[in-house]
Amino acid sequence: MKLFSSVHDVNDLNQLVSEAIQLKASPFAFENLGKHKTIGLIFLNPSLRTRLSTQKAAMNLGMQVMVMNMDKEGWALETRDGVIMNGTTVEHIREAAGVMGEYCDIIGIRSFPGLKDREEDYSELIFNKFVQFAGCPIVSLESATRHPLQSLADVITIEELKKTTKPKVVLTWAPHVKPLPQAVANSFAEWMNKADYEFVITHPEGYDLAPEFVGNAMVTNNQDEALAGADFVYVKNWSSYNDYGKILTEGEGWMLTNEKLKLTNNAGVMHCLPVRRGLELSHEILDGPNSLVLNQANNRVWAAQAVLKQMLEGK
Ligand code: CP
Repeated sequence: MKLFSSVHDVNDLNQLVSEAIQLKASPFAFENLGKHKTIGLIFLNPSLRTRLSTQKAAMNLGMQVMVMNMDKEGWALETRDGVIMNGTTVEHIREAAGVMGEYCDIIGIRSFPGLKDREEDYSELIFNKFVQFAGCPIVSLESATRHPLQSLADVITIEELKKTTKPKVVLTWAPHVKPLPQAVANSFAEWMNKADYEFVITHPEGYDLAPEFVGNAMVTNNQDEALAGADFVYVKNWSSYNDYGKILTEGEGWMLTNEKLKLTNNAGVMHCLPVRRGLELSHEILDGPNSLVLNQANNRVWAAQAVLKQMLEGK
């Protein structure tokens, strides 16, 4: 594997998930695989889980890890080609990515969308420039439109806990006070379609995800209908794709509560974190027995380790 940017970069999803579960059981079984190899984790945006879990995964494989908060510690990056750099940008992404590629055997990069220009965000400008100019394998640590390491951890979590071959999985929109990217929801939808679960998306009117991510999912604006009989409920806010980057409603009544959970098949409740308590997800669910948020966070390590292992093996 030379690129991990979406589920489409995975040859065999079942094999990757089972490799992650094996690594969870024996974290140090390949502790020399990454000896004398370096991973650079480049963050253009904040992170807790992605940073620490990917760092831990790389260390479990014996790799050396360099972390750079590019937004705060790096030179201001120019991403446009052919411009005269007489403004505020100091270094072009062509040189910056190329230099990092000289120091690293694998690069992980996080680059959120601006949520102003849909075409620019969905072209994955910054992520793709790194792929183009770094000259080494690249792992997405969340790009403008996808969060594949999170989605892989989510699939691992469902596979570990599902009680039927084809569980009913519901992705439900949740309220938020800030416009958030569609990346986690897009990515989760893409991986659910690939995993071939019974997959339902529910959101208020105006929050449809891009059709290429929705795939074969059943979509409804009726949250109660969606929740009926669900085995897993994935809670996430996203801003509008059609009215790009906008908040269209305060979402009264959309926060998942124990009362709503009664409609489900005693569903496990998932969220990628960070989560705003009492707004996106109720305290009672986060503190209750149905919450799987820490299972998901734990599985971020094994997801990252399985991907890095395949990259180091050149699979
Ligand atoms: N879920 C997730 O990616 O968390 P961070 O943004 O803290 O890395």
